[in-house]
Amino acid sequence: MDIALELEHLSKSYKVGWRKTERTAVVDVSLTVPAGTVFGLLGPNGAGKTTTIKMAVGFLHPDSGSVHIFGQETLDPKVRARIGFLPESPYFYPHLTAGKALDFYARLFGIERAVRRERVKRLLEMVGLSDAVKLPLNKFSKGMLQRFGIAQALVNDPELLIVDEPASGLDPIGQVEMRKLLNSLNEEGKSILLSSHYLSEVENICHEVAVLNKGKVIARGKIEDLLDTGGAYSVMASGLPKSWRPVEPPARQERLNGTVRLTVEKKYVGSLIANVQSSGGLIEDVRKVTKTLEELFVDLVGGDASGG
Ligand SMILES: Nc1ncnc2c1ncn2[C@@H]1O[C@H](COP(=O)(O)OP(=O)(O)O)[C@@H](O)[C@H]1O
Ligand SMILES: [Mg+2]
Repeated sequence: MDIALELEHLSKSYKVGWRKTERTAVVDVSLTVPAGTVFGLLGPNGAGKTTTIKMAVGFLHPDSGSVHIFGQETLDPKVRARIGFLPESPYFYPHLTAGKALDFYARLFGIERAVRRERVKRLLEMVGLSDAVKLPLNKFSKGMLQRFGIAQALVNDPELLIVDEPASGLDPIGQVEMRKLLNSLNEEGKSILLSSHYLSEVENICHEVAVLNKGKVIARGKIEDLLDTGGAYSVMASGLPKSWRPVEPPARQERLNGTVRLTVEKKYVGSLIANVQSSGGLIEDVRKVTKTLEELFVDLVGGDASGG
């Protein structure tokens, strides 16, 4: 297995104020992003996501620990050429049009004119901004700017894309568009590291996540494993009389607008469905009960989230 990004035992503190008091931002963070996957760095504001990302892209020097990208040191310019980065609050020249601005970034990478023209066109198409090629960036909505930011991060055709809070400040439609865009980039084979404090937003896109709180990794793994509640199922049924009770007593039974929701252990699902059907009820939905990421987070940190 190829490894796109490997962070080993990264720690970082900032010195703040005239007293140079140490403020710990990241403590002993290790994580591995396998090539071709989407990895999510989750956590509340102040958890250390941006600090971790800045160390990953080589903008910030860790106090200790190491960063390897495709097995090599980050500071090697050859390695830098293989990554694309969209920071948390990117700055773009407001008066340049999308086309000119993107061409400018391509020029910084020394990409020659003919290739540049083609690439700018293709990238704007990819992020859905073809119609805005002649529009100055100060006329862009937040969602358009974020998508432009992705195009900018892709200008050198990187294998690893690192994006800090890509959905921050976007409305629901903008968030869906961003998710689709990142998904399609991943399908094209790009490895992606993204951070988010919108926990639910990453559910449908990340293969694996690490949850950060107060600078430390407090959980990691595949989202479905982290959200697994240990095998409970929820069965929704309609058309059952008010007095109806299942034969096998379920753990929980709730009624809402004529629909009954029953929560049972996996081994009772079959008999419960048969029971509902023989009582003239209709099965509306059967699904595994999982936590939401918000619930997971509350379980993990309780009242002890970073905040800030
Ligand atoms: N430039 C800085 N100077 C001092 N403290 C900082 C600086 N950047 C971040 N911090 C502090 O480091 C901690 C982690 O911040 P950050 O990495 O930005 O977290 P996140 O991106 O998860 O919100 C916070 O306590 C924050 O206040
Ligand atoms: Mg941040």
